[in-house]
Formats: sequence, C-alpha cells, structure tokens
Amino acid sequence: MQALDKLYSYARENYIPIIDDESLEILIGEVVKANPKRILEIGTAVGYSGAIMLQNSEAVLDTIEIDENRRNIALQLWKELGLDGRINSYLGSADEILGEVIEGKEYDFVFIDGPKSRCSQYLDECFDHITSGGVIFVDDVLFFGMVKGQDWVPHKHRTIVNNLRKFLDKIQSDERLDVNILDIGNGIAVIRKK
Ligand SMILES: C[S@@+](CC[C@H](N)C(=O)[O-])C[C@H]1O[C@@H](n2cnc3c(N)ncnc32)[C@H](O)[C@@H]1O
Repeated sequence: MQALDKLYSYARENYIPIIDDESLEILIGEVVKANPKRILEIGTAVGYSGAIMLQNSEAVLDTIEIDENRRNIALQLWKELGLDGRINSYLGSADEILGEVIEGKEYDFVFIDGPKSRCSQYLDECFDHITSGGVIFVDDVLFFGMVKGQDWVPHKHRTIVNNLRKFLDKIQSDERLDVNILDIGNGIAVIRKK
C-alpha cells in the first residue's frame, strides 16, 4: 500500500480528523488554480492534507500542529514521500506561535484547519501576510449542519457553533474579501483576498 493510503487508513481507524474526500477534491482544485508559492496550514494532524497540497503544487508549506505524536507521524510520512525538503513543521499552539511562524513571510494560500472556534482570530492575525488574490480555505465551517440550522445545539458544541456563525457573518460583510461558502462535507469557506 502507498504511504498516503496507509496513513489515510491509520487516521480513519484512530479517529484522527483528516479532511474528508469531497472537501479534499475542492481543496486540490483550489490549490491547483492558485498555484501557490507558499502555503500556511493551521492544523497539520498527521500530514495528510499538507502532503496532498504539496503534491499538487510547487509550494513550500509552513504547518502548525499542537499534538507532538501526530506531528511525528506527519514528519515520517513526508520523509517517505520525499516532501520533507519543502515543509517547515512547527510544534505548538497556533494561539501562541502563529505570529512567530508567519513573521517576515507572505502566503498565497492559507488552510485554516485547527480549532474551529479560533478561525476568526487566525484570519485576523494572518491577514497582512496574505498576498492580494491569495486564497484562504477554511474547513468545517458549517460544523455538521449546526451552524446554518435552527435546531437546538448540544451544550458542548455551542461555543464552536456561535463562534463559527460570527466568523461567517464577519467574513461575508468584509469588503476586502470575496467569500464562497460551500455546503460540502462539513462546510467549506473559500475566501479570496481582493
Ligand atoms: C482537523 S485536524 C487537521 C487535519 C489536517 N489538516 C488534514 O486534513 O490532514 C485539526 C488539527 O488541529 C490540531 N490543533 C488543535 N488545536 C490546535 C492549536 N491551538 N494549534 C495548532 N494545532 C491545533 C489538532 O491536534 C488536529 O490535529
């Protein structure tokens, strides 16, 4: 079995939340269209989406993960795939290290896929480091249908759902952005900085 297929099965068996197949197709399409030079990813997990973004571009990837074990699996995968020379992997909470990671850098593609309550904060922090025309891809913005629906939201998800609703309202009324919300997978926001 190929390294990526093995990793995909491992992630599914171990409940590691990697991007779903439908959303991945959209991500690949956006990466190919953008043809980025430098990608920022918040939420590496085991390196699956990072590897696929690099296989579909000539970019360099800066990626942040809080969980050391997941990050180690990612490092192993990228080595096996020969992608390690194009990846800078950062271990830590994006809440704390994002500023340091992006210091002095410019991104034409940003994949926000870490803690769902923090999307707004991360976008604000990165904004000045994103090129004009750059793409910001945010996964899971509709959070199992709870963000759009009027149904009762379980208490444990209420903060995430409220924060995602605020995030979507904010980006959709921001005139510096073109925003497309896709009801695919758990919901994707494809945002273009004008
Ligand atoms: C949805 S998964 C990322 C999936 C990955 N992008 C993929 O599709 O292959 C989200 C990841 O964000 C990590 N994470 C959670 N909080 C974080 C934080 N504050 N800073 C950095 N990473 C965080 C989690 O450990 C988890 O591995």
